[in-house]
Amino acid sequence: MSYEKAAEAAAFIRSKYAGEISTAIVLGSGLGAFADELSNAVRIPYEEIPGFARSTVEGHAGQLVLGEIGGVAVAVQQGRFHYYEGYDMEQVMLPVRTFGLLGVKNLILTNAAGSLNSDMLPGSLMLISDHLNCMGVNPLRGPNDSRFGLRFPDMGEIYDREFQKIAEKEADAISHERFETGIDAAHTDFLNRGIYCGLSGPTYETPAEIRMYRLLGADAVGMSTVPEAIAAHHQGTHVLGISCITNLAAGMSGEPINHEEVMETGAKVAEVFKELLRRIVTRIN
Ligand code: HPA
Repeated sequence: MSYEKAAEAAAFIRSKYAGEISTAIVLGSGLGAFADELSNAVRIPYEEIPGFARSTVEGHAGQLVLGEIGGVAVAVQQGRFHYYEGYDMEQVMLPVRTFGLLGVKNLILTNAAGSLNSDMLPGSLMLISDHLNCMGVNPLRGPNDSRFGLRFPDMGEIYDREFQKIAEKEADAISHERFETGIDAAHTDFLNRGIYCGLSGPTYETPAEIRMYRLLGADAVGMSTVPEAIAAHHQGTHVLGISCITNLAAGMSGEPINHEEVMETGAKVAEVFKELLRRIVTRIN
């Protein structure tokens, strides 16, 4: 059923944009500004795309933007669907499935996340090297459609190692350039590698839960990305994941966590984040 749904959505998107799209990007909470960087952009509100759900979260515009960045045609999700909104995993995965049928080979997943690592401060970025699925459900549960992938897919390397190296190189280059020009010299180490732990939300965690996730090996926690990464890897799409660290996780700062703070930090890192994404997109294509 979901293959036909994805095919219908892909055919609709094709009718609006003829370009050859090799890379798709999902923008997390507070990180939507990147979509404004595209040239020759076509914007399609999610409600127009057959089968797509609605974005109900503040900070998620709810549209697909197709256009070019550095001469590369990309599809950008300005806003995603979350499990905590009440959508089932099929709806959460539908955009990734659709990208696959559009011929997209590379997927960049971004999100806002809380840090469990006191060396990884708000305003820095985390390169996702692997994840812990603590959402309480596997998104591939249910009948398997072999046109997407295997019934029992390997998950040994969801996040493409070559892409991780490229991201680190580009982050280094940005740091050097900024250091030389004296801009933002304090942020030389703005990209750290780590393990992303995906939770269902919508509550933030308790301090006891954060201590547990740290013992399990998590560096950051968030409420997205894991289902999309699994779906993408299942269908053979190369994945890169980047978290924007928006806050220290529960119990670490003594301050309550709120969505406004998450949004504000996203806006603060917007410039360096956009620059990094632009460089990565041109390098992986
Ligand atoms: N926990 C879960 N999700 C989040 C957080 C957090 O601390 N910050 C941003 N998204």
